[in-house]
Amino acid sequence: MADSETEFRHETARLILRDWREDDWPEFWRTTNTPAVMRWLGGVQDEAARAAAQTRVEGYRNDHGHTFWVIERKDDAALLGFCGLKRSNQPGGPQGMMEIGWRLREDAWGQGYAKEAAAASLALAFERFGVDEVIALTVQGNTGSWGLMRRLGMERRPDLDFDSADFDPENPRIIIHAIARDTWESQP
Ligand SMILES: CC(C)(COP(=O)(O)OP(=O)(O)OC[C@H]1O[C@@H](n2cnc3c(N)ncnc32)[C@H](O)[C@@H]1OP(=O)(O)O)[C@@H](O)C(=O)NCCC(=O)NCCS
Repeated sequence: MADSETEFRHETARLILRDWREDDWPEFWRTTNTPAVMRWLGGVQDEAARAAAQTRVEGYRNDHGHTFWVIERKDDAALLGFCGLKRSNQPGGPQGMMEIGWRLREDAWGQGYAKEAAAASLALAFERFGVDEVIALTVQGNTGSWGLMRRLGMERRPDLDFDSADFDPENPRIIIHAIARDTWESQP
């Protein structure tokens, strides 16, 4: 989607964060469009929803120069999922703030890959994209996701919470965590 001169690529110890290529999408959906991965994201997605998600992710890249990038494992070039940065745009929620997000295939959970990709994304938000604050959204039931937010040093911002029926039909509350540049820089 981006030519080689402008392709985004960022390496961490074990991972590469990079722009999407057209042939990433079938593999991404094959490995992540599962009941476990999509449990707190509205469930397994049909073809129309998958196409809309692809359009959104590619649009963020075109509009802002950043998106929820592909996570590729260096060892074997496996596509583990996505992690990265968008501008918050959920109806009813805060608009235009730098937002971090992640979604990894289930067999890549529990190995610190998400935290490694997320820490790199936070550093990029502050150092390359120049924002002063990054937020993250999830539902209360998604302990894996808000646990990661806490492990990254993010703190609850109940003043930004809102309701959306799109994710957890039993509890529409979307909870927000945030981290400011100062806090990020003061972490070991
Ligand atoms: C949310 C999600 C990304 C969290 O992934 P994760 O693998 O649990 O998160 P981390 O990368 O921080 O890994 C932490 C675990 O790896 C372990 N670990 C192993 N090696 C590690 C290492 N080198 N560094 C850090 N942690 C390591 C930790 O001990 C911890 O294990 P535990 O969960 O048993 O306590 C994942 O559950 C997911 O993709 N969920 C589905 C999609 C989703 O809901 N996305 C969010 C929508 S809001």
